[in-house]
Amino acid sequence: MEILHVSAECYPVAKAGGLGDVVGALPKYLNAAGHIAKVVMPMYRTKFLYENKWEVVHKSSAYLGTNWFDYTIIKEKTNKLGFDLYLVDINGLLDREKIYSYPDDAERFTSFQIAVVDWVSSWKHHPDIIHVHDHHTALIPFMMKHCYQYMHLADIPTVLTIHNAQYQGWMDWDKSDYIPHWDGWRWGVLDWNNMINPLAAGIRCAWKVTTVSWSYLHEMRQESNGLEALFEYEKGKCVGIINGIDTRVWDPETDSYLDHHFSIKTLEEGKRANKLELCEEFGLNPDKPLFIFIGRLVGEKAADLLPKAIGDSLYYIDQRMNFLVLGSGEPHIEEELNNMRSYWMGYYNSKIGYNEKLSHKMYAGADFLLMPSRVEPCGLNQLYSMRYGTVPVVRRTGGLRDTVIDYAEPGGYGICFNHASVGDITHAIFRGVDLYEDQEHFTEIRKKLMEKDFSWDISAEQYIDLYKSLLS
Ligand code: ADP
Ligand code: GLC
Repeated sequence: MEILHVSAECYPVAKAGGLGDVVGALPKYLNAAGHIAKVVMPMYRTKFLYENKWEVVHKSSAYLGTNWFDYTIIKEKTNKLGFDLYLVDINGLLDREKIYSYPDDAERFTSFQIAVVDWVSSWKHHPDIIHVHDHHTALIPFMMKHCYQYMHLADIPTVLTIHNAQYQGWMDWDKSDYIPHWDGWRWGVLDWNNMINPLAAGIRCAWKVTTVSWSYLHEMRQESNGLEALFEYEKGKCVGIINGIDTRVWDPETDSYLDHHFSIKTLEEGKRANKLELCEEFGLNPDKPLFIFIGRLVGEKAADLLPKAIGDSLYYIDQRMNFLVLGSGEPHIEEELNNMRSYWMGYYNSKIGYNEKLSHKMYAGADFLLMPSRVEPCGLNQLYSMRYGTVPVVRRTGGLRDTVIDYAEPGGYGICFNHASVGDITHAIFRGVDLYEDQEHFTEIRKKLMEKDFSWDISAEQYIDLYKSLLS
């Protein structure tokens, strides 16, 4: 089968979170299973763009409303990522430093989607499947069904994967002319609560909808930022497929970001060496358990609770632990996390910003990784941490519920709690400190973590079965 993935992110080209990781890994595994998976994404101004060689494969023009725009599709020449990678260049719109958060994101991502559909319609053959990810690409199934110019693509099965339904790409109706000449009777397909809602349109028009865990799919019928009724109505075409991890990138034995490699056999020395390095860099005490948080500093991740939860934990257990935070997001959370540094010097530190290398060093050097998320469709951090022998401390929600079992339960290997509250987080941290102080049990759990297989092999097979079901 030939599968074209369309996404706003793809690691290592451009990544803001887990979406990039998934789109950088799943196609590799699909190719390894004998299929042809390709990725097309916007051409941002990234290091990867400048450091690699490209060839132009297509040039054309299209309309965004009344504006005629030129677009160019370039292809990475060496296939170094394990799949064919195509970038869409639209002068002035996509070639910017950041991926998101520009006032004209609606124009940017709508033009990107138009260019992709226009390009595919110029192919001599059709791909077997078009697989789109999140709201930035969710108008594609609509365009293929209801835009006159592209209706000849309507026979190609489409899959929409929802990585995060909190963001839906809402647009005012004055932007309806951005979408190429469409059947006006279908306005109801675009509309949700009096706005154009690309994610809702994608859910309605895609042949299949997947979410990145089963628990998240169930939760969305209760709470999905306004789309509950739609998920209930469309439940027949929705399935959950848990994400995997790219074990070639995330391997403590070979990780190019680490100075001290380790395997399950050298777990104790390896973790210790990485912890020493990290503690030295951040002024922490390597003899105490090291908890970390890595991620977007937003309410969804319950990052607003971190300052009080960390402060309370340190206070009530007489500083028998350390905490290190890496993240960026809402300015008031960033500020609070920085302000705490002087008060808890020697026990707590934070690094505000995005730093891929440091994140790897933290997964490798930490003892525990905290994820108190209010919403977590899948979560990759807990999977990476487990592969690096770091115990996940997670709230039971979405993919965290599906991938972590509390060590007090049969077959368990993590620490779980129920509520995104300061009380539940500090209690979970105390349980972690207790576990750490029983070194024999702690080592046994770490070994169990490292033995677990969260690679993409299993989930890629589930996507393959899903694609096949659409072709038969
Ligand atoms: P989400 O996509 O919701 O942010 P995931 O758990 O799926 O959450 O994936 C987050 C990914 O982004 C992981 O690869 C994590 O290591 C990475 N990440 C998040 N914040 C940072 C940061 N500040 N620096 C480096 N990597 C980060
Ligand atoms: C989203 C979700 C996260 C998931 C990731 C990749 O960003 O918030 O839970 O792991 O997508 O699917």
